[in-house]
Amino acid sequence: MKRFFILCALALCLLPAAGAGLNEKSSTTAEQWPDSTWTDTDGAYINAHGCGILKYGGRYYWFGEHRPEQYQEGQDGVTCYSSDDLHTWKNEGLVFRVSEEPGVDIERGCVIERPKVIYNPKTKQFVLWFHLELKAHGYEAARSAVAVSDTPTGPYRYLGSGRANPGIYPENMTEEQRSRSWNVTAYKEWTPEWIQAVQEGCFTLRDLEGGQMERDMTLYVDDDGKAYHIYASEENLTLQIAELSDDFTTHSGRYIRVAPTGHNEAPAIFKHDGTYWLITSGCTGWAPNEARLYSAPSIWGPWTKHPNPCRGEGSELTFGAQSTYVLPLPDGGFLFMADIWKPQNLKYSEYLWLPVQFDADGTPYVEKP
Ligand code: DGJ
Repeated sequence: MKRFFILCALALCLLPAAGAGLNEKSSTTAEQWPDSTWTDTDGAYINAHGCGILKYGGRYYWFGEHRPEQYQEGQDGVTCYSSDDLHTWKNEGLVFRVSEEPGVDIERGCVIERPKVIYNPKTKQFVLWFHLELKAHGYEAARSAVAVSDTPTGPYRYLGSGRANPGIYPENMTEEQRSRSWNVTAYKEWTPEWIQAVQEGCFTLRDLEGGQMERDMTLYVDDDGKAYHIYASEENLTLQIAELSDDFTTHSGRYIRVAPTGHNEAPAIFKHDGTYWLITSGCTGWAPNEARLYSAPSIWGPWTKHPNPCRGEGSELTFGAQSTYVLPLPDGGFLFMADIWKPQNLKYSEYLWLPVQFDADGTPYVEKP
């Protein structure tokens, strides 16, 4: 009996410490985000994939793809969950809905991926961007769509969709590259001639008039208030970084190509000690692959590739996951967020959140305990 009381007293002493462990202000450890129980305050599985997080008014808003149980198509729209501590998530419902009107871009049956929301202090609007594929057209549309709301939890009003920066050359394309003309169909993929053609911008030129392809994407608001759209373009072979207009609802016309033929998807960006870091994945559909890491002294580059940022067992396949977002935390740390896709039932795709750690030279890495 005496031992029982001692144990109870010990447990009581430990309780506040455990509580502090869940507090967003404490330093973060991987153990705080177990990758098994991802339920909301109603006990339902969190259905918000390819997520982005917005911090606004001291609260976190988790936006993600709504995914149905049975098939890939049939999404209802974009879901939102809110939290004070990044652990307890309240379901805010569907904040953006597909349309039941036949023929419109966002007609039910369209594909909505990787939604991200940023706040514009000038317009006082919350701006939602996502990768949009049109109903019954596979992944060929390669568009982005934009919607706005006066509150973080919507409803978001659809503004339109399209490809990026029609008629505008990327800033880092040379005059010589701009004046080239390519017959890409003459080359077999991944031959040296084809690689050179892609590196020099054959797809950038092909899509110049109609605008650049936009698939997997993220948004980033820099310290000076400027916002950027980072997306997989040029048949997923090259990333592009495009500045947004002052109201964040369109592109400004300034953009660059990053890592041509790098075949990157799932971009997740953050800034640490003045360096921009970009974690991406390769392109293998829903199957995991090895993550990639790039850095740059400015958002406009030059971007340098580094070795795989994941370390330890399972790191060659990003621990079975694919990057989606890196969240800055109040204690100065960063949280790497990724999806463990379950293509047979995308609704129950899992989430993997791990703290970003830094080497002595400032290089970030992610380890799974
Ligand atoms: C990988 C992408 O990262 C996902 O967002 C999704 O588009 C799948 N491919 C589809 O296969």
